[in-house]
Amino acid sequence: MSLTHFRSADHSASATPGRRVTIQTLQDKKSKGTPIVALTAYDYATARLVDEAGVDLILVGDSLAMVVMGYDNTLPVTMDEMLLHTRAVRRAVKQAMVVADMPFGSYQVSTAEGIANAARFLKEAGAQAVKIEGGASRLELVKRLTDAEIPVVAHLGLTPQSVHRMSGYRVQGKSVAALHHLVKDALALEAAGAFAVVLEGIPTEVAQRIAAALHIPTIGIGAGSYCDGQIMVLHDLINLSFSAPAKFVRRYGDAAALITDAVHRYRDDVEGRNFPGEAESYHLGKEAMAALLLEEGTARRKA
Ligand code: KIV
Repeated sequence: MSLTHFRSADHSASATPGRRVTIQTLQDKKSKGTPIVALTAYDYATARLVDEAGVDLILVGDSLAMVVMGYDNTLPVTMDEMLLHTRAVRRAVKQAMVVADMPFGSYQVSTAEGIANAARFLKEAGAQAVKIEGGASRLELVKRLTDAEIPVVAHLGLTPQSVHRMSGYRVQGKSVAALHHLVKDALALEAAGAFAVVLEGIPTEVAQRIAAALHIPTIGIGAGSYCDGQIMVLHDLINLSFSAPAKFVRRYGDAAALITDAVHRYRDDVEGRNFPGEAESYHLGKEAMAALLLEEGTARRKA
């Protein structure tokens, strides 16, 4: 192992500026009770801004099927599309951990196919980990991925790829029996090797019990305040998702208003011949201008 390997294998306790967030960083945050901040991003520009703002983890979520591609649910997005977006995000991110979401159909067919597809995210797109949805039915895959050195974030509760089985996007785990089932699944995923678990759309009391039972970090979305961290879809945070916000969404900005206003003013300026102005225009140099005027004068005299 070279010195470079030793340097990059630094197990620092916290997300020091300029240092990449690792599994150990997230684990240390859980141990210290410091909340983990996670967000989605899908392209270079937003990933750069999100990373520079200091989040710990960036998920290239399959939610991009809805918020970037305009589909009704997350099911249609393909491996190739997820790889393309993960590469763009990875090029932008210097510090946060980059996790790629495995799209529907890329890991459900067989464990072997799941491992091959997951490896592509690390090998071809530079992700540090993959996320897969589901509980007991994913245990073998989580174990095999972990054995293959592919770190896994599990995802329990409201799993959007199960939209048809769930008859829509509904809060999960609402009974005591369902609570016990989720705790059991979470413990089993941890034992299988998952290094974190996303808890989505479940009652606060359920997430609180899962977070207390697990050694690995829980990252919540619509799962209350007791998780070890929170994740949001960036487009929900900045009003760019063109849908009524879910109960758990808090809007921190209005990118829709910002873009609409900028485009209206641009349109008005172009139509009113106020754009481009002198400051936005290039000109010929003195010599070229003199030669041009001479040439045009000669042409006029000949005509
Ligand atoms: O795809 C996604 O954005 C997600 C988050 C909601 C956790 O899975």
